[in-house]
This record gives sequence, structure tokens and C-alpha cells, in this order.
Amino acid sequence: MAPLTRNRAGEGNVPGDLNATYYRQRASAALLITEATQVAPMGQGYPRTPGIHSEAQVEGWSAVTDAVHEEGGRIFLQLWHVGRISHSAYHDGARPVAPSAIRPEGEVLTPDLEMVPYETPRALATEEVPEVVDQYRQGAANARRAGFDGVEIHAANGYLIDQFLRSGTNERTDRYGGSLEDRLRFLREVTGAVTDEWGAGRVGVRFSPLSPFNDMHDDTPAETFRAAATTASDFDLAYVHLVEPSTPKPPVAGDGEPSQVFGGIREAFDGALVANGNYNEDTAADAIERGYADLIAFGRAFLANPDLPRRLREGLPINVPDESTFYNGDAEGYTDYPTWEALQNGQSFETLESLREMASWG
Ligand SMILES: Cc1cc2nc3c(=O)[nH]c(=O)nc-3n(C[C@H](O)[C@H](O)[C@H](O)COP(=O)(O)O)c2cc1C
Repeated sequence: MAPLTRNRAGEGNVPGDLNATYYRQRASAALLITEATQVAPMGQGYPRTPGIHSEAQVEGWSAVTDAVHEEGGRIFLQLWHVGRISHSAYHDGARPVAPSAIRPEGEVLTPDLEMVPYETPRALATEEVPEVVDQYRQGAANARRAGFDGVEIHAANGYLIDQFLRSGTNERTDRYGGSLEDRLRFLREVTGAVTDEWGAGRVGVRFSPLSPFNDMHDDTPAETFRAAATTASDFDLAYVHLVEPSTPKPPVAGDGEPSQVFGGIREAFDGALVANGNYNEDTAADAIERGYADLIAFGRAFLANPDLPRRLREGLPINVPDESTFYNGDAEGYTDYPTWEALQNGQSFETLESLREMASWG
């Protein structure tokens, strides 16, 4: 199961019983990856996302991992820092931090649920960067105490590590920016800290080389992410998790051509490759058979189908996800999606469709 932010943590951004129920319901996944979870208060940029920096959060997550393990499942925590994708209202008036003071285009949802334009972030001072690395280290150590089976370093989707990696958001001139080697340094230091806590075999990393989400851009994505994958290989990480463009895009010339970008990562990384983005049972099986990837992660389909592995195995129709409850609400649109068995026993669900026919999801 791909990581899915659901904005349903309790007071103090602590996971509660409802969250434990949600993950328990989905424990038949080969591997569950949790929603992105901030390693420090400054790492938050959305309402009600869980953290892994307070004792109460460690306790809350312990109940989640217990629930999943009781069902025979395995669960990794996704370690997160949003960087510039935040607002001062989350931080008692302090501006969000980033590699460089470059304001993202677009709007952010404040804790009061208002949409306002992003602010210009504050560039981290050179000596502050190791402090942030330490926050990842502490988050990784806390995840261990909370009983997780491993962790995924979130280096995708325009958040802090991705902001250091890609040229469009990193204009630093110190050892954390400038050359590609220096843009990779933050990833390398975070990966070193996290693998110190866990051992490399229990750590994965997620990249989204071609995603423009959160106003991201890189001048040479094939080169950048080949080097990032080499870094993951140097640390012997368990897996690299790739977010692919969600809809087939026309080929891009030169360094940004998708097969060149993703092929280069496959070549450069020695461990397991997890691919994600708009897969169905046929395209997933085909990708594995061709050796394009070793595992496929499912996001939205899993959100709406607690028993997705069974539905894929047996070619059953799936519950269609309700986008209006993706990022808000409580049990509705969260823990009330029926299993196939419940549907056979008379529970109803509005829309059932073949996953094969849903390949046009944006
Ligand atoms: C509601 C929602 C929340 C998401 N939250 C996260 C997240 O916390 N971390 C992350 O890396 N990706 C997140 N994503 C991206 C998904 O992991 C995945 O890449 C995307 O949904 C495409 O896969 P799919 O076609 O199987 O849904 C989210 C996507 C959705 C729809």
C-alpha cells in the first residue's frame, strides 16, 4: 500500500483508535507504508497529519503497529518534513524553512482551514541543516520504539529532501547546494542517520523525479535521480520507491524522457524497485514480468478497498474511492469502505468498478 495522507490524527497530531482501525483493515498488504509523518513540528504543513516526535505520538503509533501485527501484517513509517510546503500559522508565526528562499506557486491550507498563498520560506543556515538531519534520526529511532518494521524516507513530491535534490528549489552556494554532488548531500546525511538507527535492510526511499507537484522542477532529472539512486545503492537500502507520472504523458525530449529517467534509476540501484502510479492488476503483473519493477504499490485503490490484495487476486470489482473525503472527515470515507465479504453479506456500496477500467485516473 502506497503512503496516503488522510488528515485524521487526533489532538497533538497523535494517531488514535480510528487510525489503528484503518491500518488494521488493510493489513493484508505485503507491506503497508503509512501516511507521511512529520519528524518535527517544523515538518508539518497540513492539518491533522501525524508526527513521530512526541512521546504521545510514539504511543499512538504503537497501538497502530500492534493492530497491524495482530493481523499478520507489516508496516513501515514514512518519515517526512515538508520544508517550504507549509505556513507560519503552523509554527507560531515562524516562517517555513527550505534550502533556498523560493516561494512555491499556489496556496496552502492553514490550521484554520483557510486557503492562502504560500509564503517565501527562510533558507536554512548551513549549521542548521545537521540539526534537521538529527530530527530524521530521532524520528527513525522513535519509529523503532513504536514497533514499526522499517521506515521509508520521503524524498518525493516536493517536500524538504526533494527541495534539496532538485535544481529548481536549491540555489545554495554552501556544501548543500550548487553542484549535483552538493544537492545530494542532505539526502546522503539523512539516509546515513536513518540507517544508523535501523540497519539498511529496513529502510526504503521514495522519489518522484518527474512530478511537478508542489511547484517542482529539475533541469536534468535523469542525471539527478540516477545519482540519487546510486546514493540509495551505496547505503544498500531495501528499496527505491518511484512515483511515476499518473497519466501517460507525451514523450519529453532529452534528459527528461520518462524511460530514460526510470531506466537509469533501475540500472543504478541494486535493491528492490517499487513502482507506483495508476497501476491495475494487468499493468502491475506485466511490469513485474518484464522486470521493470519488483513490487507495485497501490494508493487510491487501497484507500477504498481494505481487502485490495484479494480483489486483485480474484479479479473482483473495486469500491470506487470518494475524493471528497480523501483529506478530511473522520470514519466516513476512511474506515467505512466495505470488504468484498461484507458486500456479499448484504452491505451496499454506491459505485463498484473494474480497476482495469479506471486507468484514466488523474
Ligand atoms: C489521498 C492521497 C494522499 C497521499 N499522501 C501521500 C503521502 O503521504 N506520501 C506520499 O509519498 N505520497 C502520497 N500520495 C501519493 C500516493 O502515494 C500515490 O503516489 C498516488 O496516489 C498514485 O498512486 P495510485 O495511482 O495507485 O493512487 C497521496 C495520494 C493521495 C490520493
